[in-house]
Amino acid sequence: MFPLIQADAFWSGHNVIVEKGDTPDNDFDPNEVRQLLLNLLRNAMEAMPPNGQVRIKTYCNSDTIFLEVQDDGPGIPAEILQQLGKPFVTTKENGTGLGLPVCYRIAERHNAKLDIRSSPQGTTVCIKFKR
Ligand SMILES: Nc1ncnc2c1ncn2[C@@H]1O[C@H](COP(=O)(O)OP(=O)(O)O)[C@@H](O)[C@H]1O
Ligand SMILES: [Mg+2]
Repeated sequence: MFPLIQADAFWSGHNVIVEKGDTPDNDFDPNEVRQLLLNLLRNAMEAMPPNGQVRIKTYCNSDTIFLEVQDDGPGIPAEILQQLGKPFVTTKENGTGLGLPVCYRIAERHNAKLDIRSSPQGTTVCIKFKR
């Protein structure tokens, strides 16, 4: 996972900080979680002006495992926020509008909730897996 993230970050010119906290053993599908993380990381990097910063964090409490991707980009446009997760909704010239819908599907299959907080100061997507 780390080499992939580092390569993406290197080519994008952004700064990626990974804070891997303790996470308990789980039976999450590694391919799906990887896809989820890459989709979110890509959105973060595509949203930010040069030299942006993305923070990827994992942590847990007694009943939940958290995976968080936080960027300091301009935030999700209001008209997009209203239809989050709807397929083919994109503001990018070459966007598919499928990144977030796939994230929602993967979260659903893992009994997880996807929370998005966004403001003009940045966006944080937090996946909450029941442990
Ligand atoms: N971190 C983010 N910051 C700002 N806008 C975002 C972010 N993540 C998603 N978006 C918005 O949501 C839209 C849909 O994202 P997504 O489903 O991944 O499709 P795509 O990346 O192909 O456009 C994007 O086009 C963008 O407008
Ligand atoms: Mg995307």
